[in-house]
Amino acid sequence: MCPVHRHEPCTLDGTLKKNRIRQHGHTDCSCQLFYGRTAIMPNVVIVGTQWGDEGKGKIVDILTEQADIVVRFQGGPNAGHTVVIGDTKTILHQIPSGILNSGKQCIIGNGVVLDLATLLDEIRQIRQQGYFTDPSALKISENASLIMPWHKKIDIARERKKGKNKIGTTGRGIGPAYEDKVARNAIRFGDIFNDTLLRDKIETTLEEKNFYLTSYLGEEPLNADAVLNALTALRDELRSYPVNASLYLAEAVGQGKNILFEGAQGTMLDVDHGTYPFVTSSNTTAAQAAIGSGVGPRQLHTIVGITKAYTTRVGEGPFPTELTDATGDFMRTQGGEFGSTTGRPRRCGWFDLVVVKHAVRLNSISCIALTKLDVLSGLDSINICTGYRCGETILHEFPNDLSVLEKCVPVYETVPGWKEDLSNVSSYGDLPQAAKSYVARLEALTGVPMCMVSVGVKRSQNIMRSNPFDAC
Ligand code: GDP
Ligand code: IMO
Ligand code: MG
Repeated sequence: MCPVHRHEPCTLDGTLKKNRIRQHGHTDCSCQLFYGRTAIMPNVVIVGTQWGDEGKGKIVDILTEQADIVVRFQGGPNAGHTVVIGDTKTILHQIPSGILNSGKQCIIGNGVVLDLATLLDEIRQIRQQGYFTDPSALKISENASLIMPWHKKIDIARERKKGKNKIGTTGRGIGPAYEDKVARNAIRFGDIFNDTLLRDKIETTLEEKNFYLTSYLGEEPLNADAVLNALTALRDELRSYPVNASLYLAEAVGQGKNILFEGAQGTMLDVDHGTYPFVTSSNTTAAQAAIGSGVGPRQLHTIVGITKAYTTRVGEGPFPTELTDATGDFMRTQGGEFGSTTGRPRRCGWFDLVVVKHAVRLNSISCIALTKLDVLSGLDSINICTGYRCGETILHEFPNDLSVLEKCVPVYETVPGWKEDLSNVSSYGDLPQAAKSYVARLEALTGVPMCMVSVGVKRSQNIMRSNPFDAC
């Protein structure tokens, strides 16, 4: 069976050939070519398997070399994806991390909620660093919903009102923007080029939002003219970006180009499958790569789960393996665990197998890129949480009812640590035996191969064990 296209090797049978042309957009029917990957490379989806900040940006940057197109498909400026090239650190929030590789096409998909003012700031910043010199390297779906000034105001004011029950959002207006999208009230990127429509949408929306802002949240109202003027002032800088992304991607696939889909946040922040309500407001799991970019689900071939060698979380919500002791502080200091978007200290804890297995199932993960293994150097021993003990029972699956978690304590398997510095290790064989055993144990427990092992912030600090663009 062809591992990319999930069909039997071809016998040049007429029906199969026709199907294959329709489904995969290529006309050569010799399956030998597909096995050898010379005719077409699979599309690869990158998702976080924990609570975000697993190192997705770094891995996307590395894999972009082999991709033609990089697409962000959900989230917005709540994301902070760090890429370090040489001595230059860049944090991408809305633009795909592939933008730092010249000659690659980046696309912001319809599933993203977009803050145009901060997008332009981000563009200026990366240009100052010498990247993104060709304006055609970025396209934005006309259907992407915009984050408007009222969304940010509502996000921040609601969190304040919730007090100790707050979610700990990034304050970027993400939740309120997705609410309006689903309520069919969103202003979409394509709308900003239509004056009449834009004025009408802003005035109508503000009638309701100002009522909510003033009467419920005790905030100042927003002025429609001011909002309209601020938005239209940005338009000239944005004229080259709109695209029908779904059509664009379909044509690209037809031409044999391959796509790298860049997820934001992590599986445990998924609005349906995460630690609700302590989640973000989008689906962060792999299936969203199709919805949020306008490709069909059969275009998602290989799913790479980005997994930290321990666990972190920013914001409120359950975190069973959290360490509030010196070991947690060690991880925060060694790993530089401070939010890329808000600068908040990240909560740190041991690797949680229950969480990662949940992610393996929900995303149908093909392989894992294990990041930040270097951070654990210096520990005498390392714990892996294999389940949660609740009274007499041990849970091996993440419960939907979060109140159950409050009564649970993690069950740990303890493995030996290592003292050696890993940051200059470039081949798997050169890792200390205890580090190799830790990786092998995680592979055995998750049931998923670790295709990449990352040992530092830089592009070069990465061990490629099997290439996700080759291995389905
Ligand atoms: P993302 O949101 O998943 O892209 O992750 P962030 O960029 O928010 O956070 C990951 C942090 O870890 C960034 O500061 C990266 O530079 C850094 N990082 C990524 N991989 C490694 C690694 O293997 N080792 C170390 N020490 N740092 C890493
Ligand atoms: P990347 O892509 C880590 C968290 C927030 C908060 C919750 C809801 O860099 O991994 P929101 O502003 O989305 O309404 O906040 O989700 N959160 C993230 N945590 N990494 C992220 O993105 C996050 N994006 C949102 O801290 O707990
Ligand atoms: Mg991040």
